[in-house]
Amino acid sequence: MGKATVKAKMVVDKDFQVSEIDPRVYGSFIEHLGRAVYGGIYEPTHPTADENGFRQDVINLVKELQVPIIRYPGGNMVSAYNWEDGVGPKEDRPKRLELAWRVTETNQVGTNEFVDWAKAVNADVMMAVNLGTRGIDAARNLIEYCNHPSGTYWSDLRRSHGYEHPHKIKTWCLGNEMDGPWQVGQKTAQEYGRLAYETAKAMRLVDPDIELVSCGSSSAQMPTFPSWEAETLEHTYEVADYISLHQYYGNRSGDTANFLAKSMDMENFIQTVISTCDYIKAKKRSKKKMYLSFDEWNVWFHSNEQDKEIEPWTVAPPQLEDVYTFEDALLVGSMLNTMLRHSDRVKMACMAQLVNVIAPIMTENGGAAWKQTIFYPYYYTSVYGRGIALNPIVSSPKYDSKDFTDVPYLDSSVVYNQEKDELVIFATNRHLENPLEVDIDVRSFENYSLVEHIVLENEDAKAVNIAGSENVKPHTNGESYLTDGKLVGIFPKFSWSMIRLKKS
Ligand code: AHR
Repeated sequence: MGKATVKAKMVVDKDFQVSEIDPRVYGSFIEHLGRAVYGGIYEPTHPTADENGFRQDVINLVKELQVPIIRYPGGNMVSAYNWEDGVGPKEDRPKRLELAWRVTETNQVGTNEFVDWAKAVNADVMMAVNLGTRGIDAARNLIEYCNHPSGTYWSDLRRSHGYEHPHKIKTWCLGNEMDGPWQVGQKTAQEYGRLAYETAKAMRLVDPDIELVSCGSSSAQMPTFPSWEAETLEHTYEVADYISLHQYYGNRSGDTANFLAKSMDMENFIQTVISTCDYIKAKKRSKKKMYLSFDEWNVWFHSNEQDKEIEPWTVAPPQLEDVYTFEDALLVGSMLNTMLRHSDRVKMACMAQLVNVIAPIMTENGGAAWKQTIFYPYYYTSVYGRGIALNPIVSSPKYDSKDFTDVPYLDSSVVYNQEKDELVIFATNRHLENPLEVDIDVRSFENYSLVEHIVLENEDAKAVNIAGSENVKPHTNGESYLTDGKLVGIFPKFSWSMIRLKKS
């Protein structure tokens, strides 16, 4: 006998608009880390490699995700990176000790190759500069190399490397996680604020059209959060367009109900950063609004122990290779919902990362590429979550877990795509035992009919996908239906769903 159905309600209206969604909220991240670059996107000996050594099987999977922007080259790695090592003839590039992950970096891929690869997957590049071991000088030279047309030392060097036209990289991160003690060249808030401000000033003198991301805290759990945001923004508020947020979650204690509630921590994190930005805005009597770039987010914990066994100074070892479970995919769905509900302030976000390293796409060296469980909510939200984010008025039964109280069983986001006349509902049912029947009032969407109800469900919270065996993948047999202008959303226990309606 099936378990009792739990009821919830939702009102969706065209006029309850949060904001136009910036497509860059579906961005991702490739760091020189583990097998993200070498063996991930780049493997010249792979049977599918193109003339530049890029794996086309991986390119095709990335294209499926429709990733609009990809952060590069780090991450922690950027804080001791000499970008000059990665340009020019490949045979002349030095091998270096890469200090963040204690591996050997061969520099066979660098700025120009990455720009080529990003073009191949139809993405823009979000470039990070080294504010750990370096600073203003290296950053201004890099932007001159990338964005200045010609006639100067660095721009002509790029041309001599075979890139006649500037890369026109628009979005730049002023360092990475500079508050973290693990960072090479960690800074205090005052040190970072001053350095980031002066670097931003110089970079904008080279190219006034860029936009800049000031480093926020490495996570909401950092002891200096949120004073780091307040103190650094005192310096960078007027030169930066965004502040970064980073957050990873795990289920170390095996408490699924608590784990699924962790997107509520993300919700609080976003709200606190918005409040802190607005406090500095008020303090400075500024007219400018600071936007949020959630440029690292995901589940990360499965690989922590095995990574301790890695031999130092090897080339591209399998680091941070989390094998994602079914329950991880549900939290990823809710993290996406959380950001969409804040799309008036969260304008960019990067699932960290994209290939092999805590990633939706995995590869075998020389072999197959496949989709992890988390690929699916990311894919559907990226492809169908374009348009205007609506604010669903939800009334759902709630539960308490170890770290959270009043956790709604129903977690959702709603997108209205005016161009396509589509209404799309993304929903996680956090109830581990019971289906949710949701009475959804779609009153302003007359003459819309149900196109599909995609469901990701599995009896086993720990089910995973491995090469050649995809145990966790969505089906199209969702049972939601329309009746008398109302949508009845049927969300199976412990599941993630996408319901798509279209004007008939
Ligand atoms: O994405 C993995 C690492 O997580 C990044 O290098 C760093 O920025 C964060 O701590």
